Amino acid sequence: MKEKQFQEAVFKAIFNRRSIRRYQNKIPEREKIFKILEAGIWAPSGLNNQPWRFVIIWSKETKKRLSELTRYKEIVKNAPVLIGVFLKKSQMYHQIKDHQSAGACIQNMLLSAFALGLGTCWLGEILKNEDKVKDVLELPKDEYEMCALIAVGYPDDKSKRADRYPLKHFIVKEI
Ligand SMILES: Cc1cc2nc3c(=O)[nH]c(=O)nc-3n(C[C@H](O)[C@H](O)[C@H](O)COP(=O)(O)O)c2cc1C
Repeated sequence: MKEKQFQEAVFKAIFNRRSIRRYQNKIPEREKIFKILEAGIWAPSGLNNQPWRFVIIWSKETKKRLSELTRYKEIVKNAPVLIGVFLKKSQMYHQIKDHQSAGACIQNMLLSAFALGLGTCWLGEILKNEDKVKDVLELPKDEYEMCALIAVGYPDDKSKRADRYPLKHFIVKEI
């Protein structure tokens, strides 16, 4: 790929990705889900400790049980695939930095899903029920810390897209 095309592709993904909360019935291909996870694990992490761990959820019954744990019930119940992102506690070295690494990992996944024609929604509200999520997923509570659920599917979302403030809003100073 030529340098200009490469730049365009990267910026296209960053600027055009938007959270998708409604999905077509079509189930995403398993290869695409694993490609997305592969992109996730190439995120940077402090000390390269790679603390992220994933639970891939295809089961309708599991999605239904998880949907009872969040006000974003419809998204969770109807998502063709859910990816639970966790930190492996024994792998962690710094609470904030490990969560930052997980954030980088998740953003890699959202952007690569977009590149593959898939829509995603990063779901954090469900974290209030972290222990119950672990019960549903049969994960040992003391081994994993929850970061997010990511809903993934082919987009069927015509809703209004979130905007951003102009860049100058965020710049505190330039010295
Ligand atoms: C940490 C975090 C938690 C989020 N939790 C939720 C959530 O629980 N439910 C939801 O619908 N969207 C959730 N979102 C998605 C945001 O609402 C969305 O990214 C934001 O409105 C900007 O829209 P965009 O992603 O379309 O650019 C979350 C995003 C982040 C980064």
